Amino acid sequence: MKRVFFTETVLRDANQSLIATRLPYKQFEDILPTMDKAGYYSVECWGGAVFDCCLRFLGEDPWVRLRNIRKHMPNSKLQMLLRGQNLLGYKHYPDEIVKMFVAKSVENGINVIRIFDALNDLRNIEVAAKEAIKRGAIVSGAISYTQSPVHTIEAFAKLAKELENMGASTICIKDMAGVMSPAEAYELVTAIKNSVKLPVVLHTHCTTGLAFMTYLKAIEAGVDVIDTATSCFSGGTSQPATETLNYALKQLGYDTGLDDSILKKVNDYFKPLRDNYIADGTLMPKMMATDTDALNYKIPGGMLSNLVSQLKAQNAMDKFEDVLTETPKVREDLGYPPLVTPMSQMVGVQAASNVLMGERYKNISKEVKAYCLGEYGTAPAPIKPEVLQKVLGNEKPLQGRYADSLAPVFESAKQELADVARSDEDVLSYVLFPQVAEKFFAERKAKEEKIVRYTISPVEK
Ligand code: CO
Repeated sequence: MKRVFFTETVLRDANQSLIATRLPYKQFEDILPTMDKAGYYSVECWGGAVFDCCLRFLGEDPWVRLRNIRKHMPNSKLQMLLRGQNLLGYKHYPDEIVKMFVAKSVENGINVIRIFDALNDLRNIEVAAKEAIKRGAIVSGAISYTQSPVHTIEAFAKLAKELENMGASTICIKDMAGVMSPAEAYELVTAIKNSVKLPVVLHTHCTTGLAFMTYLKAIEAGVDVIDTATSCFSGGTSQPATETLNYALKQLGYDTGLDDSILKKVNDYFKPLRDNYIADGTLMPKMMATDTDALNYKIPGGMLSNLVSQLKAQNAMDKFEDVLTETPKVREDLGYPPLVTPMSQMVGVQAASNVLMGERYKNISKEVKAYCLGEYGTAPAPIKPEVLQKVLGNEKPLQGRYADSLAPVFESAKQELADVARSDEDVLSYVLFPQVAEKFFAERKAKEEKIVRYTISPVEK
């Protein structure tokens, strides 16, 4: 019987896509031992925006969260998403920090690290991948899926081969915008299966309504692992439902390895939480709906809504269609970057500026400049020479890899923090998010002092 494995995403991607990663640890702690018995291939629970949101919004130490999940799920493979040389932050870090961060992630409980780079520049994946392998983690080498004249089946298959050579244990096709169609999935999975010997993972979102069909065709083409979310946290901008795919695939003769009764318990647990998030407005109904605009405009849903709010703020909604026409042109000029963070913002803002200023590339953001300098990596196709000239003037693009120009920062960060940092993990949190981490450390200390006061006061009276 053909086996299809499931990665459950409720704790990370579903949480991130539907409720902006606002799920506090305490709300899901009690279900972890049950989830541990479900039979998932892995549980995606960390990385992506989880780290940032724990520190910034939830007053939680992300490292403590990871250790707690580990403690309550001793039998599961815990998975994280890592943005290559960006780690979980928004800029490139020196190799020293990348290695330490990966080592600490594994030490605190991570088993599977899915590593991607928005530009598919493998130099931004290599250091993290090598360190993860050294520390005994499973590396899932991810391909950022996008559509453009240079993102061909052959190019993706070649990329998969290179990830295999780098030591990846699985290849993940990451369709972050949910725009991969069933036909495209069939063709791509077939090509990658022919090019590498590794298991292939497919990750997509329901945003445009294609995902269930896309998974089914991918499975027909031999995909080994799919990402799904427990049904009450599925659909819309999240992943397809775990129980639905389990039900359909079992009927088709696939072994999913999943325990139906446990899947039901997991969903029953999260349902009231989901209802609370709807009631308090954290989960907006439109996040759960199907939106096919991304298929028409070839622009991811999130980017489209950013464009709308940007234009509304400048009272320029009458220019919306012009900006939509300009966006793919800017993307082409810049060598077809996949429209994911931070490239989606970069391209969107530039397109809007080109239209609103009445002159192309009159205003250039510092992000576009850094991109043209090569600080994000190599563009998928050459940047148009006339645009490069306009953006950089006499400045020359970087030769080599940007991270090689970054000096180590760990020791100086440690000294800056002095006794505020209680561990190397604290120092890493600070390196990634300096102000946010400082505020978190101060609040952590204040909270502890308060607890001490409360425990002392009854005795004093
Ligand atoms: Co995703």
